[in-house]
Amino acid sequence: MHHFHYIKNELFCEEVPVATIAQELGTPLYLYSHATLKQHFKVFDGAFSGMKHLTCFSMKSNSNMAILRLFAMLGGGVDIVSGGELYRALKAGVEPTRIVYSGVGKEVAALEYALKTGILMFNVESAQEILKLNEVAERIGKKARLAIRVNPDVDPKTHPYISTGLKENKFGIDINDALEQYSVAASLNGLDVVGVSCHIGSQLTEVGPFVDALRKLKKLIEDLRDIGIRIDYLNLGGGLGITYEMEAPPDPEEYARAIQTELGASDLTLIFEPGRVIVGNAGILITKVLYTKPTKEKMFFVVDAAMNDLMRPSLYNSYHGIQPVKNRGREKVKADIVGPICESGDFLAKGRDMEMLEPDDLVAVMSAGAYGFSMSSTYNSRPKICEVMVKGDRYFTIRDRENFEDLIRGESIPDFLMEDQNKVQEG
Ligand code: LLP
Repeated sequence: MHHFHYIKNELFCEEVPVATIAQELGTPLYLYSHATLKQHFKVFDGAFSGMKHLTCFSMKSNSNMAILRLFAMLGGGVDIVSGGELYRALKAGVEPTRIVYSGVGKEVAALEYALKTGILMFNVESAQEILKLNEVAERIGKKARLAIRVNPDVDPKTHPYISTGLKENKFGIDINDALEQYSVAASLNGLDVVGVSCHIGSQLTEVGPFVDALRKLKKLIEDLRDIGIRIDYLNLGGGLGITYEMEAPPDPEEYARAIQTELGASDLTLIFEPGRVIVGNAGILITKVLYTKPTKEKMFFVVDAAMNDLMRPSLYNSYHGIQPVKNRGREKVKADIVGPICESGDFLAKGRDMEMLEPDDLVAVMSAGAYGFSMSSTYNSRPKICEVMVKGDRYFTIRDRENFEDLIRGESIPDFLMEDQNKVQEG
């Protein structure tokens, strides 16, 4: 469900024609629907209303402050993976007691920052990190609440780059070593063991792997309680998939029912870290056709957005729907939608049956709200594009388009190179 729809062959976001925004702000741009964001958060969070829980939006999927602020206002927390994400979340007004921190490579400075902030808990991912967290906590006189992120060795049946809960992945502590590591953590003065956590992968389209992981975690929690380690929180991570093309993932209610059935009556507080399922279909990328280029092989539509703006197609060969902002009823062609970057891997879509486009036509790249802007870069010295939120009949720029000065901010040329340049000029 989302609020991007056609009225008389013209694409609208809520009540605003997409073409009006593009005309006003230029292209490319990311466009989010406030109503969709809000609804997706509420549907996910509401699905667990019968259970003690906390929804910690996984902000790596979209870290714009306006979006974080919206979820914070709806009672959400966030899942962070870096000091930078913590900074953003706090600036957006997220309650520290609703922040959980995962990641295999947490730096000392970031651990210290999060400890001083008083976040809810750290999801610790290695034996060394347990010791490091304890050391930092003792040094600054704090207690670090922690969960161990366990790797339950469950196949999430998703793209290998985004599967995380298999033995061969770098994430978490092997569930078979967890008891031992929990005992170590429980014996350390700087630590307060409060939870068990896992995240098995992203874009899952079945509930089975989640249930398999939960079954293993339940057993672990029983074993921990048997040795006197009290567990209050169970974090099941994120990973629920969305429809990009033909996928039919379980909806949040179905996912919640499966979790509740497997968990049974429980005094645990559940934590979820959804990202994609909340923002994925709440955002689109608007781009303009620069050139159309028929070759003997196929038709190319060269657009002004590129792999630096949306890298998912290049990186994972992932599918995003391509829709003209105005349906004009032209003849159908098979086309590749490509960007201006100097790489053959720079494409947004391949071999699409769609209506013929002309230069200056606008195109919407669908389902781009998750891992779109947040993974963008300035490759080929292309300034980062703007982000816009629509609410009803109004729209708001929530991130300015960057300019050329932004591109070189922080760079400097050492004196010796300047001298050389003088010499060149003198010579
Ligand atoms: N929790 C942890 C610890 C994670 O590592 C992730 C995602 C999530 C939660 C949120 O997962 P989600 O609900 O969004 O599936 N760039 C890739 C996705 C990478 C996912 C990384 N971890 C993509 O564009 O598909």
